[in-house]
Amino acid sequence: MIIAPSLLAADFTRLGKEVERAGRSGADWLHLDIMDGHFVPNISFGPAVVAAMRPHSKLFFDVHLMCSQPEILLEPFVKAGADQITVHIELGERVPSLLWKIRALGKKVGLAVNPPTSITAVQPYLDKIDLLLVMTVNPGFGGQSFIHEAVPKIQQADTWRRERKLNYRLEVDGGINNQTAGECARAGADTFVAGTALFQQHNMTAAVKKMRKMVNDSDPGLADLMV
Ligand code: DX5
Ligand code: ZN
Repeated sequence: MIIAPSLLAADFTRLGKEVERAGRSGADWLHLDIMDGHFVPNISFGPAVVAAMRPHSKLFFDVHLMCSQPEILLEPFVKAGADQITVHIELGERVPSLLWKIRALGKKVGLAVNPPTSITAVQPYLDKIDLLLVMTVNPGFGGQSFIHEAVPKIQQADTWRRERKLNYRLEVDGGINNQTAGECARAGADTFVAGTALFQQHNMTAAVKKMRKMVNDSDPGLADLMV
């Protein structure tokens, strides 16, 4: 299991310290939400900020590009210290070349799918990715409520993974707290992004530990009983 705090919910007046706090918390990755004010109706931060944070952390940098023109951003984020870059399936016919380019830059490849988009859209790419991100809110803002309708998409993606003997990670992002993380884990998710539920806790170490326990304790058998 991977727990990935999202920096979007950090205190932006003290980013270096916040990145260090995440590093000490027992979390596995740092999730970096990049918003361009066009693909989503919000703006976050860019490669210069990521590069400034890189020396403050040994965490794996999981860069989530919510951007209309990722083509021009891949190299800058690789230079800034990204370990993985995720682009959105909603970019359509540009997706194959984007995935190829991330791979060619020597980084892990992620593909994200928004709540209104059918999970079947990602099917052709499943053998080309390291991570599938099933969005559990409409991207753009932290602190939104989990969209339960996304859960069957996680189950479908997990089924394909087993049927096709693939090993992409299955990540969820948006409205993830101890309860919804458990629900996603029962559906097959193994990688949990949480902004509000982790960064906005005074004791992030305890929050990470609790989330890990909730995921570990979520009995896969329960899913069948709950149908
Ligand atoms: C949503 C972002 C998320 C966001 C999650 O647009 O992709 O990563 O930071 O925030 P919470 O956990 O607060 O929903
Ligand atoms: Zn994200």
